Amino acid sequence: MKYFLDSAKIDEIREAYETFGIDGITTNPNHIMNSGKPFKTVLGELADFVKEKGIEGWEKFPISVEINPHLDDADEMIAMAKEIAAICQNFVIKIPCTLAGITAARKLEEMGIRTNLTLVFTASQALIAAKNHSLFVSPFIGWKETSGEDCVQYIQDIVDIYANYDFLGETQIICAAVRTGKQFVDCATAGADIVTAGLQVFKDSFYHPFTDYGLAKFQAAWDKTVI
Ligand code: E4P
Repeated sequence: MKYFLDSAKIDEIREAYETFGIDGITTNPNHIMNSGKPFKTVLGELADFVKEKGIEGWEKFPISVEINPHLDDADEMIAMAKEIAAICQNFVIKIPCTLAGITAARKLEEMGIRTNLTLVFTASQALIAAKNHSLFVSPFIGWKETSGEDCVQYIQDIVDIYANYDFLGETQIICAAVRTGKQFVDCATAGADIVTAGLQVFKDSFYHPFTDYGLAKFQAAWDKTVI
């Protein structure tokens, strides 16, 4: 399972790349706002980052960038997607799972512009993403679990449906809004392709107090050992 960082902050991206070896990035308008920088400045920083690391191209290091969420016309969505895709070959265009969005995503894929169908909350929405040949589909987990839904079966259903029709791998499943280590494990157990989460979620899911306890115990033993 691949790890994507859900962030538009370049310092977080650098840290996650070095520490966790992330395989890609997902952004959204919220993350761009939280970076405190203008949209185009962030895109420029992301483009410079992949050049610096020698990971140019969406096949090596995909970066999802969302179009203006106010757009509700497929042609306008396509126009903005083309503009973003022209900036950097790593950019995969995030399109909302609306009627105009699925129309735009299908046409963009036909043009060779890769898409990530986002704001997906049901397996039937995920099925459309695969039928349209989107590169990615982003079923959200955190938001659903916060509102009381169990997401284990939901992710498993998407994986099973994709396997039934040979979509697995062609449209990669990004489990989005992942908040906990338990959710990482649920996604991996179901066979999802990717999880995307914030830097602190990666750190928290990696941490276990017994590792610190064991280290302290072994340090104390080491100090009493005659070498
Ligand atoms: C996924 O691609 C989204 O950017 C993301 O996971 C949104 O959710 P969050 O910001 O609430 O985590």
